[in-house]
Amino acid sequence: MKDLFERIIADKGPLGKWAKQAEGYYVFPKLEGPISNRMIFNGKKIITWSINDYLGLANHPEVLKIDGEAATEYGMAYPMGARMMSGHTKYHEQLEQECAAFVDKEAAYLVNFGYQGMVSAIDALVTKNDVIVYDMDTHACIIDGVRLHAGKRFVYRHNDMESFEKNLKRATKMAEANNGGILVISEGVFGMRGEQGRLKEIIALKEKYNFRLLVDDAHGFGTLGEGGRGTGFEQGVQDGIDVYFATFAKAMAGIGAFFAGNKDVIQYLQYNMRSQMFAKSLPMPMVKGALKRLDMIRTMPELKENLWKITNALQSGLRAAGFDLGTTHTCITPVFLKGEVPEAMALVHDLRENHNVFCSIVVYPVIPKGLMILRLIPTASHTLEDVEETILAFSAIRTKLENGDYKKIAAAMQ
Ligand SMILES: Cc1ncc(COP(=O)(O)O)c(C=O)c1O
Repeated sequence: MKDLFERIIADKGPLGKWAKQAEGYYVFPKLEGPISNRMIFNGKKIITWSINDYLGLANHPEVLKIDGEAATEYGMAYPMGARMMSGHTKYHEQLEQECAAFVDKEAAYLVNFGYQGMVSAIDALVTKNDVIVYDMDTHACIIDGVRLHAGKRFVYRHNDMESFEKNLKRATKMAEANNGGILVISEGVFGMRGEQGRLKEIIALKEKYNFRLLVDDAHGFGTLGEGGRGTGFEQGVQDGIDVYFATFAKAMAGIGAFFAGNKDVIQYLQYNMRSQMFAKSLPMPMVKGALKRLDMIRTMPELKENLWKITNALQSGLRAAGFDLGTTHTCITPVFLKGEVPEAMALVHDLRENHNVFCSIVVYPVIPKGLMILRLIPTASHTLEDVEETILAFSAIRTKLENGDYKKIAAAMQ
């Protein structure tokens, strides 16, 4: 028999094994100073393209004011306990009503973290007789929710409607045999490459198949659709989404999330999502702060307009400079380049140290070998100057990449 920690110390896990080389720089970097278009990294000001503060609300004076006032009035503890026991307030209910109205659903229920909420919502929505059909590229919270499912699940190729229908057919057979139902799960916006989920086409198949659709719209809420009401509005199919999910951690620049849908289903979630029933309720500064943020999204269309002004300038500028942005239809801006992992590391180092541009990098095994994605998240607080400097920096690093400079640097470091 082994000591449990023997394996943990020897095998640090797929990411943890890189900790020595990567920690503090490529992973767990520290961005300091107020959340904005330019933050401090390793003591230096750099253009920050890695924060999902889409609408620039994180440091908006009105947001800071309400967050501060709520913290002074209530502290961070109130209300104490889980919603079900002693953590319920009229403000939580007000926020739920306002979120539901905003996304045009009958009811909504708050969850403390989107991730935990999603895991529990999936767990609550299905029994072992039901079947789940989900997109291959969905977020980890959906994957983990599906892991809890004791029944059958089918995964379809990312945004591939042929693969979707094939799996839906299989799921239908299985559900008929078990006398169960089908839950389909997609994202509104896929966070890695910026594609919208093909909600319209998925929903059109409701004519032919019997299923319910859960949509994780973490990146669509606030950024897409009329008034920032999300991807369902963008595609004109909000009615066809049976359970809508958005987090406050991105466009709302806060913490918390909500599910919205028909009132019976939302009440069912309220009484059955274990991670919420047995965990402390959202503290008041989060709730009051979210009410304010939602109001600002509703009444300040210029926030979304600024976001799209920057997004359009960045994406058209990068495309004009010959960069491959894949098939993004959202603000998320992936730049696809060719190179192995060590080259990618040298390139990012150069980008941060010599060009003062900070963005996330995605490499193998998340994407195929030989490919890297530099992922940029534009926000309403960026400027056209940021865009211009970034495009120049990207052109410079591409030349070095093509000349093999990063390959040489990486080889010299080994
Ligand atoms: C698509 C998606 N779903 C869910 C979450 C989790 O939300 P939260 O940060 O509120 O836990 C995230 C991100 O962080 C996300 O990108």
